[in-house]
Amino acid sequence: MSEVLVETKNLVKEFKIRRRFGGGDRFIRAVDNVSITLREGENLALVGESGSGKSTLGRLTLGLLRPTSGNVFYMGKDIWKMTKEEFREFRRNAQIIHQDPYSSFNPVKTIFYSLSTPLLHHKIARNKREAYHMVADLLRRVGLEPPSDFMNRYPSRMSGGQLQRIAIARAISLRPKYIVADEAVSMLDASLRLGIIDLLLDLQKEYGLSYLFITHDLGITRYFIHKGGGKVAVMYLGSLVELGKGEEVIRNPYHPYTRILVEASPIPDPKMAKSRGIPKLRSLDIPSLTNIPPGCKFSSRCPYADTICEKKVPEYRKVDDRLVACHYAEQFKTGE
Ligand SMILES: Nc1ncnc2c1ncn2[C@@H]1O[C@H](COP(=O)(O)OP(=O)(O)OP(=O)(O)O)[C@@H](O)[C@H]1O
Ligand SMILES: [Mg+2]
Repeated sequence: MSEVLVETKNLVKEFKIRRRFGGGDRFIRAVDNVSITLREGENLALVGESGSGKSTLGRLTLGLLRPTSGNVFYMGKDIWKMTKEEFREFRRNAQIIHQDPYSSFNPVKTIFYSLSTPLLHHKIARNKREAYHMVADLLRRVGLEPPSDFMNRYPSRMSGGQLQRIAIARAISLRPKYIVADEAVSMLDASLRLGIIDLLLDLQKEYGLSYLFITHDLGITRYFIHKGGGKVAVMYLGSLVELGKGEEVIRNPYHPYTRILVEASPIPDPKMAKSRGIPKLRSLDIPSLTNIPPGCKFSSRCPYADTICEKKVPEYRKVDDRLVACHYAEQFKTGE
């Protein structure tokens, strides 16, 4: 089996929030005791509603945020115990692709400038001439041809899909091992999304990358996992509720929340889905992070919740190869 590349252990991130009418400081727990592992060359798709803590978890794994408690390991080393040199090397190896390519490029710099600067800075290119050839190769690699058509353009003169390809070129330019794709296709036209996912997966094969692929869209997750394989992790209000082999989690979810996500995103091929009818949420409101229900966080909306769920926080249960944070995970497995 391949080596563990990125690992989090009992990771917690709290943010201080301001009170409108005085009073003491309050904290919200955006990431609550999350442990995940990602092996070299593997994928982990992170799914959940808006505000469930996906981006915060992604940023923690990149060392862009410091955890409140818990650890992030990169190749077995705690990133916050690394020497300056080790941390710099880690940051080169761990890159991000954002949702909005227009806000992730400097609007007054050309594409050549944006792509060549990191190459020169990290001494991957020794001079501008070498950088030019490397940038041209990168542009070709992400499907932008001829490269000379794009080198001197400004971000505003490119389409969203083209610019997202440039963002991918920039992310791979320093030859990283780990990439967080944070809603990388969510803002694109539906017609362009699959092409970008295909590109990410082709690059994975070529360079042996590992992806943390973040999305709120189960249809996108389904495509990504179907083509690229890997695990799915489902988050709800900062907690991981289900984690397992992607195809299996999507085909037969055990946690009621995952079931609702999957059933709400129907697919045309009935053979791929094992529908049990859509369970109705008890409440459509997502509780606020400042007002989380006691017991299971999902209990206020879960169609199956009973008094235990409302009182007791569920521990992770291992059902088959899967981790499920639900008191009744075993029953959901057998469909009782
Ligand atoms: N820097 C910050 N300061 C205070 N609160 C923050 C900060 N960053 C995130 N949060 C809060 O943490 C929670 C989780 O946010 P996060 O952006 O990680 O969610 P998400 O799952 O990525 O959502 P989305 O799908 O909308 O991108 C939210 O309630 C958010 O408002
Ligand atoms: Mg986000």
